[in-house]
Amino acid sequence: MIKVLFVCLGNICRSPMAEAIFRHKVEQVGLEKEIFVDSAATSSWHIDAPPHKGTLAILKDYRISSKGLKGRQLQKEDFEAFDYIVAMDESNIKDIYRILDQPQHPKIFRLLDLTEDAKDVPDPYYTGNFQETYDLVSAGCEALMKKIKEERR
Ligand code: 4NP
Repeated sequence: MIKVLFVCLGNICRSPMAEAIFRHKVEQVGLEKEIFVDSAATSSWHIDAPPHKGTLAILKDYRISSKGLKGRQLQKEDFEAFDYIVAMDESNIKDIYRILDQPQHPKIFRLLDLTEDAKDVPDPYYTGNFQETYDLVSAGCEALMKKIKEERR
């Protein structure tokens, strides 16, 4: 089983969106028995909370299920448990190193570093632009699927 964990600050906007979009892609290619997908926050602010209404609305627009999405905080044990720990921005990366007590590791990287447009995924909690988040996360998830297929073949 390949295990993928998306991480952002609150685990209510970007990383649950990434979890849902990536799971949808996994199901589209029939790999749901081989790839497990989850998401977590670097903060403790929204533990057990559902995603932000902007994330739920855009997933609904694209007919992507938001079933099972619930806030949780990243734990030290996640380092061993997951094969890909995918951050939304550079500040998440620093927080991940601190929480996992890990200076750096190839399994920890920023989502859009897999794309030509290597940058942070802007936080829609502040920008209000969930469409921009969807477009960037979707492109990142496509690149992540390609990376996993290449590495696991
Ligand atoms: P996220 O966005 O990291 O994409 O889930 C945020 C969600 C909540 C807060 C900040 C960012 N907050 O300040 O509660």
